[in-house]
Amino acid sequence: MPGLLLETLRGKNAGQRPVWLMRQAGRYLPEYRALRAEKGGFLALVYDNDAAAEITLQPIRRFGFDGAILFSDILIVPYAMGQDLQFLAGEGPRLSPRLLDHALDTLESVPERLSPIYETVRKVRASLPVDKTMLGFAGSPWTVATYMVAGEGSRDQHDTRALAYRDPAAFQAIIDGIVAVTVEYLCGQIDAGAEAVQLFDSWAGSLSPTQFERWVIAPNAAIVAAVKARHPQTPIIGFPKGVGEKLPAYARETGVDAVGIDETIDPVWAAGALPADMPVQGNLDPLLLLAGSDDLEKGALAVLAAFSERPHVFNLGHGIGQFTPIDHVERLLAVVRGWRG
Ligand code: CP3
Repeated sequence: MPGLLLETLRGKNAGQRPVWLMRQAGRYLPEYRALRAEKGGFLALVYDNDAAAEITLQPIRRFGFDGAILFSDILIVPYAMGQDLQFLAGEGPRLSPRLLDHALDTLESVPERLSPIYETVRKVRASLPVDKTMLGFAGSPWTVATYMVAGEGSRDQHDTRALAYRDPAAFQAIIDGIVAVTVEYLCGQIDAGAEAVQLFDSWAGSLSPTQFERWVIAPNAAIVAAVKARHPQTPIIGFPKGVGEKLPAYARETGVDAVGIDETIDPVWAAGALPADMPVQGNLDPLLLLAGSDDLEKGALAVLAAFSERPHVFNLGHGIGQFTPIDHVERLLAVVRGWRG
């Protein structure tokens, strides 16, 4: 029997709402911090299957979320494409050589950097209760490309946006390379036991409308078509963060089964603007959860009410912050679980 999350992603409105939180495995949990301190760095954790499986399961044990999201990172794809990857404490990820000054074909791909991740998926699925859904994921090509080109995170993706205009052929080759590896990566996760997958497009909001069509919609549509050709039954969630009024086009044109929406989107608008019956995931402001004010319950209820007429997966509008108190998460879960549409 598929659990509530998988049923909802397949288009069923069961009244009751499944819930999971983006970045639910991570630094706001003391048990994560303890294991991270023991194992050293973030990448060491990702490539230690037992540790990565344990971290994936930690938030399920503590909160009983309906979905377990694989503990890994979107930058594993550039790592497998041959860039060096480091996570510097307090500074974030670094990729080298950066593609701003190195051609893509100077990289030598290292596909064996993907296979340990599949082993983590297998381990998690084997110990996850049957009614909990195993979620795989990858970054969307545009967002991944912004890190590959700049070699690090950047405020407005300036270098990558400029490169896409200056040398669209070279940039297209980068995007095509990411698409190909991402298709294999997602199919590998599904073969290993992922029951649904999410495409994270954190920087989709920085593009003009024509660039958005070319660098967000087209490559995501290509990934969805290729994954669906091999795994037609596996729901794909697209999460194009910050895209505002471009959301309905994204939902229609990429072929994703469900859309994740960020906290800047009015849920009442989204409920009316998205294709009828398409499952929606979101979109409580993670900072409201952090603050935990009296408005937390009200905010959660407003999201729940807005999507009562369609399948809805309760989530935040972006990842949970590392300073979020555990008892705020518990208060939120009580509201979501007490709600009946
Ligand atoms: O959601 C989950 O719990 C699953 C695991 C997951 C991580 N990263 C673990 C992680 C997922 C789905 C991601 C996605 C990711 N990674 C995105 C897209 C979503 C988003 O948040 O916008 C992006 C842009 C990245 C790249 C990345 N990874 C950055 C910029 C950083 C450094 C900033 C930060 O938050 O520390 C990471 C590191 C990272 N990825 C951590 C975790 C738990 C923190 C590592 C640590 O120091 O312990």
